[in-house]
Amino acid sequence: MDFKEIISEMIFKVLDSTEISKDEIKNYIEIPKEEEKGDYAFPCFRLAKILKQAPNMIADNLRERIVDVNNVNATNNEVDDKQSIIEKIESVSGYLNFFISKAKIVENAIEKFNKQKEDYGKLNIGEGKTILVEYSSPNIAKPFHIGHLKTTIIGNSLKNIYKNCGYKTISLNHLGDYGTQFAKLIEGYKRWGKEYDLNENPIDKLSEIYKRINELCEENEKVLEECRATFKKLEEGDEYCVKLWNEFKDLSMREFERIYDLLNVKFDSYNGESFYSDKMQEVIDILNKNGKLTDSQGAKVVDLEDVGIKAPCIIQKANGSSIYATRDLAAILYRARTYDFDKCIYVVGEEQNLHFKQIFEVAKYLDLDEKYTNGLVHVSYGMIMLPEGKMSTRKGNFVKVEDLLDEAISKSKEIMQEKNIEDKEKVAKQVGIGAVIFEDLKESRIKNQVFDLAEALNFNGETGPYIQYMTVRTKSVLEKAKFNPNNIKNNLDNSNANDDINIDNDNINVNILKDDASIRLIKLIENFDKIIISSMEKNEPSILARYSIDVASAYSSFYNENKIISNDIESQNARCYLTYMTKVTLTNALKLLGIEVPDKM
Ligand code: ARG
Repeated sequence: MDFKEIISEMIFKVLDSTEISKDEIKNYIEIPKEEEKGDYAFPCFRLAKILKQAPNMIADNLRERIVDVNNVNATNNEVDDKQSIIEKIESVSGYLNFFISKAKIVENAIEKFNKQKEDYGKLNIGEGKTILVEYSSPNIAKPFHIGHLKTTIIGNSLKNIYKNCGYKTISLNHLGDYGTQFAKLIEGYKRWGKEYDLNENPIDKLSEIYKRINELCEENEKVLEECRATFKKLEEGDEYCVKLWNEFKDLSMREFERIYDLLNVKFDSYNGESFYSDKMQEVIDILNKNGKLTDSQGAKVVDLEDVGIKAPCIIQKANGSSIYATRDLAAILYRARTYDFDKCIYVVGEEQNLHFKQIFEVAKYLDLDEKYTNGLVHVSYGMIMLPEGKMSTRKGNFVKVEDLLDEAISKSKEIMQEKNIEDKEKVAKQVGIGAVIFEDLKESRIKNQVFDLAEALNFNGETGPYIQYMTVRTKSVLEKAKFNPNNIKNNLDNSNANDDINIDNDNINVNILKDDASIRLIKLIENFDKIIISSMEKNEPSILARYSIDVASAYSSFYNENKIISNDIESQNARCYLTYMTKVTLTNALKLLGIEVPDKM
């Protein structure tokens, strides 16, 4: 039952104007925030111009006619049914407010849920389309910092959301495994490698070597020259250089994999920058052929002034070496050909806004089908910082992400110690990691954020653990009631209480769920698919994250205000069924965010 559709039809029928279609009317219909304004509202302001009347007059007239028309046709079954759907229509300051019968709201939501049950929220709008989600993409031999944690978490959630919507999704990790810094590392390692045991905390040690050689380069131009020469050797495939580079890469990957394991994040491809190093000449050739390359102090650049970007995109440095942007352009060519993508999204921090603007423009000069260039999207996010002093290391403003995750797990383990549950280790991990993931997703991604672990772990705050806790509560309520969603007992006919009967509206007395707390929860659950779609369209998991908080706290009110387990089997059935709907909705929402639900907590 599409209430908006029913309402727009009612309005359309009584409107003497051909200037506005039913679909337009439907688009104008809003869901008011305040309950006293009804379940749906139609603003008449846009009609004022067409009808040359004041909005409040229009609303008054429309109301009268809708009521009138529906009364006149009271014998018509269809209208009769609609009458029972719409309980009341009010005209208030230019708005038509529609109040839907509560029983219908409940009935409708249950009907919608029952079509999918455990799969509630699954969609097929992306069927036949392929989407690439590039995220995480840390740099080899450099720390995996808290910004990388954020892209990893947002990207993983977006991948889940797209997949849930029916898209074929491919997750890409564009590793930063190329560039002059590797030559510097090799030079540093040659000098001081023996001083370091790379078996332990290799990234810390490689970072230190990198810092030392950089300092030396600054002091001594000759060392810098040596590094440049080494980079050339590396590019040409020199055995020793390549061997060292591979070692650095393996050591770093081992650390990254530990983080991915903790977060339960997986990638379909780890093709990093080096993968594209032999695919860049084609980019240069195409740009050249299309007359897009100009010389700028020896470097080759693409001028972007015409499209409003002041800074030109550098394609090749004066010394002939390629750069980051060129590798990204080669990656676009490769991805279009390999995956034939409909969309390719890059989850990368806002400090790279200009970079993506540039390469997306330059990509238009690569003779690619527009399908591909139109499908490139930079999903940017704001700065993320740790509270001053608390978690920062001696060296500076980044803490090791692995330490942060370990800390989250051990803090949650402390909380678990007081609880009477089995497998505390497992639950502590689910809760600690869930807390971190939720903290990274709960704000709209473009907002700058201070990552506060203590706040993230607050069971009573707007946090992952709070939602996990409420989900676990739905489970324990259902367990206590020995609830089986496929076998709802109908008190009107106890004889088939033990048969497997499929739930339909007849087995649940919807009138039991008409109190405010139940209705609020039901309306939220009914809205799940729209929330998923909006998170997807805006590439904004925070919409789903905030929704999960709303559902969890609506369940908490419902739980506090209603006796769920009782001797009245009819009301127990209805309330357990709503509990079951909540459990499925929350579990599926958390799954999309990348958060697990413990059995008990
Ligand atoms: N490795 C880069 C960094 O850590 C991010 C790479 C983003 N992806 C890309 N296709 N440029 O800053």
